[in-house]
Amino acid sequence: MDIITVRDLDVGYGGRPVLSGLSFAVPSGRITVIVGESGSGKSTLLKTLIGLLPPLRGEIRLDGGRIDFDSERELAGLYRRIGVLFQNNALLESLTLDQNVALPIWMHHRDWPAEKAAERARIMLGRVGLAGHGAKYPFELSGGMRKRAALARAMVLEPGLVFCDEPTAGLDPITAAGLDELLTELRTVHGVTFVVVTHELRSIARIADRLLLLRGGRLQFDGEYTEAAASADPYLQAFFLRKAAS
Ligand SMILES: Nc1ncnc2c1ncn2[C@@H]1O[C@H](COP(=O)(O)OP(=O)(O)OP(=O)(O)O)[C@@H](O)[C@H]1O
Ligand SMILES: [Mg+2]
Repeated sequence: MDIITVRDLDVGYGGRPVLSGLSFAVPSGRITVIVGESGSGKSTLLKTLIGLLPPLRGEIRLDGGRIDFDSERELAGLYRRIGVLFQNNALLESLTLDQNVALPIWMHHRDWPAEKAAERARIMLGRVGLAGHGAKYPFELSGGMRKRAALARAMVLEPGLVFCDEPTAGLDPITAAGLDELLTELRTVHGVTFVVVTHELRSIARIADRLLLLRGGRLQFDGEYTEAAASADPYLQAFFLRKAAS
């Protein structure tokens, strides 16, 4: 089943498309990785998929329903149903991890009793391997732990769909591998669907079920990761050779 379907989509700024004619689907319970050279439009596409940048043309359907970018109420509903792991984590330094993770609950479920919110935050911290760290402040954590905490917050409302922008950027190789393992575990054990923007080729090899390759303002490849890795297409071959060389 597909959780997102995109049809004839143009995305860009000020009426000028960065990407045009995109049609693809994001299958549920799998990890779709968006790749492309710097400036190819990965972040722009992500911004539109999470409702922050209205498309210039075309439509996006989430669970079959067309997203109406003119309706603030509908966009607010969208923000409740998806999780987003921003590149800079966006943890609030003056709050503990427990409080950071509970933040979306405070925003979207004001009626929840404090104990219920705290309990959910604890469960999520456990799920990302940070059990027992809830009383710490972000500045007390390593880069990898901050990413995990931000992921716990992105997932605290248990969205079925989580978007990640460069989740392993700036992490050492071992910490990056640990985060990749966490994403695949959340997919396999909890059935979470991920859309991940990354240009870390090792990460792609570890996590990608499907690959979307952006090039020259278009979607150049859309398919299974294994199909991309075995492709005779010269650009794709060069892309994966870069992996071998890195
Ligand atoms: N707010 C903006 N206003 C106008 N143009 C923008 C804006 N943000 C990005 N662009 C342009 O859109 C194009 C795609 O940028 P985007 O950030 O989506 O690329 P990217 O694939 O994410 O690159 P990177 O790998 O470097 O993050 C670039 O030409 C960029 O200059
Ligand atoms: Mg980007």
